[in-house]
Amino acid sequence: MSDALAAPGRTGQPSAEARATAVAAAIAQAAVDQADHAMRNWTDPEPGPVRIGSPQHLRMFCNMLLQTHNPYKPAVIDWPRLDPEARQRVTSLPIWDIAVQTEGRASVRVQSFADTVADPLLRSALEMDGGEEARHKVVLSKLVEAYGIALAPEPEYRPPDDLEWGWLVTGYSECIDSFFAFGLFAAARRSGFFPAELVETFEPVIQEEGRHILFFVNWAAWYRRNLPWWRRPLYALKVMRVWLFLVWERIGIARGIDADGAAQDANFAMTGSEALGSTLSARGMIDLCLAENERRMAGYDPRLLRPETVPRLARFARRLLR
Ligand SMILES: [Fe+2]
Ligand SMILES: [Fe+2]
Repeated sequence: MSDALAAPGRTGQPSAEARATAVAAAIAQAAVDQADHAMRNWTDPEPGPVRIGSPQHLRMFCNMLLQTHNPYKPAVIDWPRLDPEARQRVTSLPIWDIAVQTEGRASVRVQSFADTVADPLLRSALEMDGGEEARHKVVLSKLVEAYGIALAPEPEYRPPDDLEWGWLVTGYSECIDSFFAFGLFAAARRSGFFPAELVETFEPVIQEEGRHILFFVNWAAWYRRNLPWWRRPLYALKVMRVWLFLVWERIGIARGIDADGAAQDANFAMTGSEALGSTLSARGMIDLCLAENERRMAGYDPRLLRPETVPRLARFARRLLR
């Protein structure tokens, strides 16, 4: 029984108002818990094997995204009050500009790619994906506002000329960044760098990125298999160019070529563990990323493909670090 339920009114009994408040709070909490569980666990009710690239596969990965949507509202997030020290740690992290801009760019790129898609189910899944990116941006803006973090002026977010390129860049960059974010987030939670309430408040955003990369790798496999043979070589080249671009972008950012400071922190994903108060070695950090990646993907239908490339590269790097 909650405190409010137990709190006596003037007669020694809990007042009707206190009881109603407590019941409402309990119902609201149950709804939040249920939405949280639903976003992390999903299995297609249709049994049997699924061929990658088939119409059934398409239905499956679209339904996964659509049915695990968590309907939280950023505007009503109750940002926990932080003690001055924690607040200082959070506001001085060099990630807020790049985080807000990344979400802004992602939402425009995903949405504009969605507009090119004819299949209604795939289109609505992509629209949901883009909508969630836009919501991430709102969550971040609310956080920034709540803790008085100063942001660099934002650029204008425009759809790229090649809409497929924009979607591929967003998808593959999320595969890289989410993998490291999973580990960094867990490291910050362990080290107590972020107060527990703040970690809990932010947790659904991280899981959402997990759903996005799960959706993306399945879309990529489905898409490739459904391309006519004569388009495949050019498409493979394009994907290779996307990876090269992402590597180049991250090397550039690591060198801090963006002199006005707004973007110099994207490499935080790779180097941020110290800043988050973690004492883990590079190997320990990779192990944590791998374990978290596994854990976050564990609740979804095992017939869906999992993001493989980045974990595989991480395992390879780990062996070199021995
Ligand atoms: Fe996002
Ligand atoms: Fe995302």
